[in-house]
Amino acid sequence: MLVEQFRVDSPNVVYGPESITSNYTYDHTEVERTEEGQWTLKPKKTEYTFETSTRVPKLGVMLVGWGGNNGTTVTGGILANKHGITWMTKDGLRKPNYFGSLTHAATVRVGNYKGEEIHVPFSSLLPMVHPNDFVLGGWDISGMNLADAMERAQVLDFELQKQLVPLMKDMVPLPGIYDPSFIAANQAERADNIIKGSKREQMETVRQQIRQFKADQGVDKVIVLWTANTERYSEVIEGLNDTADNLFKSIDANEAEVSPSTLYATACVLEGVPFINGSPQNTFVPGLIDLAVEKDVLIGGDDFKSGQTKMKSVLVDFLVGAGIKPTSIVSYNHLGNNDGMNLSAPQTFRSKEISKSNVVDDMVQSNSMLYGPGEHPDHVVVIKYVPYVADSKRAMDEYTSEIFMGGRNTIVMHNTCEDSLLAAPIVMDLVILAELVTRIQLKKDGEAALRGFHPVAVLLSYLTKAPLVPAGTPVVNALAKQRAMLENIFRACVGLPPENNMMLEFKA
Ligand SMILES: NC(=O)c1ccc[n+]([C@@H]2O[C@H](COP(=O)([O-])OP(=O)(O)OC[C@H]3O[C@@H](n4cnc5c(N)ncnc54)[C@H](O)[C@@H]3O)[C@@H](O)[C@H]2O)c1
Repeated sequence: MLVEQFRVDSPNVVYGPESITSNYTYDHTEVERTEEGQWTLKPKKTEYTFETSTRVPKLGVMLVGWGGNNGTTVTGGILANKHGITWMTKDGLRKPNYFGSLTHAATVRVGNYKGEEIHVPFSSLLPMVHPNDFVLGGWDISGMNLADAMERAQVLDFELQKQLVPLMKDMVPLPGIYDPSFIAANQAERADNIIKGSKREQMETVRQQIRQFKADQGVDKVIVLWTANTERYSEVIEGLNDTADNLFKSIDANEAEVSPSTLYATACVLEGVPFINGSPQNTFVPGLIDLAVEKDVLIGGDDFKSGQTKMKSVLVDFLVGAGIKPTSIVSYNHLGNNDGMNLSAPQTFRSKEISKSNVVDDMVQSNSMLYGPGEHPDHVVVIKYVPYVADSKRAMDEYTSEIFMGGRNTIVMHNTCEDSLLAAPIVMDLVILAELVTRIQLKKDGEAALRGFHPVAVLLSYLTKAPLVPAGTPVVNALAKQRAMLENIFRACVGLPPENNMMLEFKA
């Protein structure tokens, strides 16, 4: 049963006029090793206080790559939901929805009432911005208005597009930073809406555009999300971009190796605006991460986890968790949208290949009963550009595993992804969660003051293919663990225990 509204009745939780305060006991296990090599596992309890501001802001959402397939699909999808636009297809009347959004189409189990499982909407755990209320804007190096760009994208049904045109034709992206050395040469044709000047001037223009957007739209907060083309990797070089100071020196010196995405992100950090990277490139060079930490501004990424990788982060977790040993994972993709065309250049493909490559590492490392030291499944990723299939990306995967007594198990999967329809709700979730995360403060027992989460937003990793984490933090790729982390931290914020699935009340 779905329960839309509830109240947590606990002496450890206080609902104030502007915040929820939760005193929370964190049960965890401390692992120790003696000098003689004896391992000890000590159950521990640590007291935390969480304080979540319940003031949901008027939120500006600025997309870099607003006129692309994802940008137009996010915009059209939100407008259709907001205005209740329905449309006919050969299968009948279609109504707008937010399917695919963790925050706005998924639920959380909270317990059991007279034998029936009770679920609440994920969005009811803590006050969150609703996507219908996003104030949208952004940049694109193509100056096409959003209605024409939606038609170019070939994603939404034609009858829906016709109704959206009047709502989108006056939406025109701001000029963006274009550097042909970072994306495929085949993108040059659409680059007609460009910020001129040196790298410093380009970055300052982006800062000014953000301030102007804030003022014009009267929003309380802005979040910027990169859904522009995949760039090639920037080289990380000592003296160039390894520290915040060096990054600034390189920007001032107009160094060729500072990418457009790094310039946008630097502008955002300087404006105190969270920046999320939905593509695979290393926008977050060490100097930029330093700057975000120093200024305490949220950054999150990398690369939306929408199709093939999402399946992988479920399937490999299941196999390894079941004691089955994947030995070869081969993934082919073909797609025909502009993203696919851009990825047909070797240097941008390389960024995608890197981002897709580490996704099984944590699962493999979790079970060295299966894998010897240094042993790893063969893992190959191929991407081909096939214009005819447009946004309807095909992902084909073969998982070969060793099973009982030398046997072999092969799973073959075909996944028609519908790329942007899967990515758009992820864009919305990333924005909604990033905004919420900036309203949560916490402290451990004994600490004097509350503080925010680390600015490198690990909490977003459920939605990203190559989660960016603070130095020294384990990277978790397994989808179920990522979701549990997010859900359980939000539960803690309202004084609910983590979902441990024990259901002891039914066991004796
Ligand atoms: N399922 C998915 O769709 C999915 C999943 C993971 C990652 N991604 C990544 O998301 C990104 C966007 O995907 P898409 O299908 O919308 O691509 P797209 O090519 O349709 O859109 C990208 C837009 O970015 C614009 N652009 C390029 N460089 C720019 C810059 N420097 N400043 C401003 N605008 C710029 C382009 O003109 C284009 O309109 C890609 O990098 C893709 O790899 C997509």
